[in-house]
Amino acid sequence: MSNVFESTHPLVAHKLTKLRDQSTKPKKFRELTREIAGLLTYEATQDLGTSPKEVSSPMGQTAGVELTDKIGLVPILRAGLGMAEGVWELMPNAEVWHIGLYRDEETLQPVEYYNKLPVSPTVKVCLVLDPMLATGGSAVATVDVLKRWGVSRIKFVGMLGAPEGIALMQEKHPEVPIHLAKIDEKLNEIGYIVPGLGDAGDRLFGTG
Ligand code: PRP
Ligand code: URA
Repeated sequence: MSNVFESTHPLVAHKLTKLRDQSTKPKKFRELTREIAGLLTYEATQDLGTSPKEVSSPMGQTAGVELTDKIGLVPILRAGLGMAEGVWELMPNAEVWHIGLYRDEETLQPVEYYNKLPVSPTVKVCLVLDPMLATGGSAVATVDVLKRWGVSRIKFVGMLGAPEGIALMQEKHPEVPIHLAKIDEKLNEIGYIVPGLGDAGDRLFGTG
């Protein structure tokens, strides 16, 4: 699984433990989601390109850099919104393009309900944000959309991944790196990640 990165950072593991905890309320859940998203993005963006830029500090001039490529954050609605805030704080110049998908409860297939991407791509690199990579259907469908849009450099950043979802992504989009806080054990019979954290959208938005 060379393109799959599971965080080994103790801060991520510590915060993920609190995130899973069923007694964690939505306010804290949102806070942890934002924080973990930022930490994972730090790990996922190590290879972003930079170009040289001179800078003058109050004490003198020195060589610096700036990010070269325009970055697009692509939160998958709804739960990806919880991650977008944390990532946007790190990259305030990124564009945010929402993709609305929900999983049909019977078939577990993704159903698209929101996509306002313009005809031509406006970004070079996309970070797809969704806390849960379960069957992988939603992530695969989103990457399909972004590839059709014309973006060739795409990364997936999530909290928890099931082996089934990781395998599907690797089959359909092997070149897309997957950054996760943790690879969990399995999916249950209704497509939830075990041990997981439950329904991420419901826990973020208090709708459970
Ligand atoms: C959840 C989650 C992912 C999807 C993962 O969304 O946020 O988008 O399920 O499942 P998959 O890998 O099997 O496709 P959900 O459909 O519950 O919608 P919501 O975020 O609006 O609650
Ligand atoms: N979506 C969630 O929110 N949780 C899961 O465990 C699987 C899909």
